[in-house]
Amino acid sequence: MPPAYAIQRLALHCLVSSNSPARENTSPNSLNVLLVGGGGREHALAQAIAASPKLGTLYTSHPGNPGIAAVATPAGVPIDAAQAYRAELFCRDHDIDLVVVGPEAPLAEGLADSLRRKGVAVFGPNKDGAQLEADKHWAKDLMRGAAVPTAESRSFTDAEQAVQYSLSRTEPPVIKATGLAAGKGVVVPSTHKEAADAIRWMLNDKAFGDASSRVLIEERLEGPEVSVFALTDGTGVYILDACQDHKRLLDGDEGPNTGGMGAFCPSTLIDDAMMSRIQREILLPVIDSMRREGIDYRGVLYAGLMFTHSGPKVLEFNVRFGDPECQVLMPRLASDALEMLYATATGNVESLELAWHPGAAVCVVLASEGYPQKPITGQSITGLDEAAEMEGVFVYHAGTKHDDASGQVITAGGRVLGVTALGDDLEQAKDRAYAAADKIRFNGMQVRRDIAAATVIAPAASRNS
Ligand code: AMP
Ligand code: GLY
Repeated sequence: MPPAYAIQRLALHCLVSSNSPARENTSPNSLNVLLVGGGGREHALAQAIAASPKLGTLYTSHPGNPGIAAVATPAGVPIDAAQAYRAELFCRDHDIDLVVVGPEAPLAEGLADSLRRKGVAVFGPNKDGAQLEADKHWAKDLMRGAAVPTAESRSFTDAEQAVQYSLSRTEPPVIKATGLAAGKGVVVPSTHKEAADAIRWMLNDKAFGDASSRVLIEERLEGPEVSVFALTDGTGVYILDACQDHKRLLDGDEGPNTGGMGAFCPSTLIDDAMMSRIQREILLPVIDSMRREGIDYRGVLYAGLMFTHSGPKVLEFNVRFGDPECQVLMPRLASDALEMLYATATGNVESLELAWHPGAAVCVVLASEGYPQKPITGQSITGLDEAAEMEGVFVYHAGTKHDDASGQVITAGGRVLGVTALGDDLEQAKDRAYAAADKIRFNGMQVRRDIAAATVIAPAASRNS
């Protein structure tokens, strides 16, 4: 298999519809940036943006994250879609050249629309494009229309009709809230009773409010999962190295689903031929369909794929970088991250020629006791500096805060830190990430010991084409 960083140099920098020559990247020499979001993904973005010689000032909507606060200036006003006028005024008063939106919720609520109307360049789609993640029913229709391979499904608003349909299937199907549910809206039941309970919980008990007023009943697929990221401005597409994350809480892929307990990049499951197929069968048809619907999608398109016996199929689309996947992508990026984000936001994806550090990156998530159900927070964290000083290591803050009383950094969320390391290969990156993670301590810390281990990552041989 070729090294993954060769993938970019081969077939994957393509155009959807234009055959014009690569354009010059003409980003200004000093860019003021507003970064929206306050988790590990945004800390990784903040650090990458802060390393750019083209950066003027980086502002953050979330200075409560000590990692982000170390490299960014607080915006000082709420930055959200509900009060978009504040964000608009902030951008005007601070000469903001680029707004980078990390999470999906502000995109789904139309923050990017408001800012773009005022002439601000935004990395992240408008509300119409964000439906791809915020409305799974809409996303399925789009996929069907574009003949994109995905799990077979039907959507329901009536619980008893949904239960009847679920019972008509041999295997218990997967139940999904169609709206945004903070990563908790998917139930993969082992029995028909669990499926029926999940349906009634979502539709009748309104488990996620409006987000579960409609559910998808979806065929259960089997196979390893891969996260694929494509930068697009609706016309140009640039595909990044694929990542794999580990969704289950416990070693050996046991326990409840989480937002992700670790990730690595590049994926061991994708070679050039497979990436071309994913590009041809999945990414380009979806981007092209959106363009034909008049959607001006600028940002990253994240395809969550399952490699089934009949090839790669879409589990979901997201309209943002994955978390923790972003925490392995950013450290591997050798090119200027700010230029990359700005080119995407301003319709210059065609100008991108990204360079990557060779080798691999592994991120190990340190989570609080009780995560994902009920995280216990407020614990003092030690060893942060010692870990961050190690070679090739990046310590990203996800759920931490500064405790004014003790002057210490304490835990403040479910996923607390992402400890990433670069290495010449996956093995070295993994060893470094764990060596660094082992320097960090807080009460009740949960950490999977098998991130990127050969026992849980599917070997290339299991890939089907
Ligand atoms: P999603 O948020 O749609 O990616 O779903 C969260 C997780 O649920 C995925 O990462 C999979 O592990 C699992 N999942 C979702 N859809 C399916 C499916 N159709 N078959 C099997 N597992 C699924
Ligand atoms: N790591 C999964 C996600 O970001 O949705």
